[in-house]
Amino acid sequence: MQDASSASVRVLTSADTEAYRSVRLQALYEQPPAFGSLPEVEPNLSETAAKLAKSNDRCFFGAFQGEQLIGIIRISRYEAPNEKHRAYIAGLYVLPSFRCQGYGKALVREALRWAAIASGIRRVNLTVVTQQEMAIRLYQSFGFHVYGTEQETFSRDGQFYDEYLMTLELNSDNDHSVYQKGQLNDC
Ligand SMILES: CC(C)(COP(=O)(O)OP(=O)(O)OC[C@H]1O[C@@H](n2cnc3c(N)ncnc32)[C@H](O)[C@@H]1OP(=O)(O)O)[C@@H](O)C(=O)NCCC(=O)NCCS
Repeated sequence: MQDASSASVRVLTSADTEAYRSVRLQALYEQPPAFGSLPEVEPNLSETAAKLAKSNDRCFFGAFQGEQLIGIIRISRYEAPNEKHRAYIAGLYVLPSFRCQGYGKALVREALRWAAIASGIRRVNLTVVTQQEMAIRLYQSFGFHVYGTEQETFSRDGQFYDEYLMTLELNSDNDHSVYQKGQLNDC
């Protein structure tokens, strides 16, 4: 499998709002669902632009093929003052025709680099629909492990979906050199 160079992944800004929102909406229509959120409650363009604005507590990354945005991910620090040592990854998505070329891995790698460099983050969490086997394998390859299952997290078209809770301890003894402190895109 080709490994997309991290040079094709960069931090998204408000200038990427329309492209980001378009990819995000495609993600929410994915079948079987990868996300509990629904397209009709997705933030509008100006709300999305505000989310993409520079922040010390979250970062959106995009994978590009040429000028085209083809994959997205975000990482956010928890908000409560006593939870700021934790961050969570969400919204990982690569357009179907660009999968299996290393873009998903490159996106997760950049998100984890951001966490490794951000001050005081010790742990990264995420949730993933139990049917999304490719995503689960990808996360496991970075050292994430399942620590629980949340049952019937959301329903879609009369079917209920469970999610695995996954966690990764940064700076543990595991070999996670892929995200050790290094060059980070400006965020
Ligand atoms: C999960 C997802 C982002 C992966 O994106 P991708 O660009 O295809 O991923 P990559 O090409 O970087 O592959 C990552 C891993 O997936 C697996 N994988 C990729 N291509 C594969 C193939 N042809 N056959 C089997 N496994 C494959 C491998 O484990 C690979 O890791 P490896 O290189 O160490 O073998 C993509 O499938 C997707 O958008 N899925 C729907 C949304 C989703 O589930 N998001 C997660 C929400 S929590």
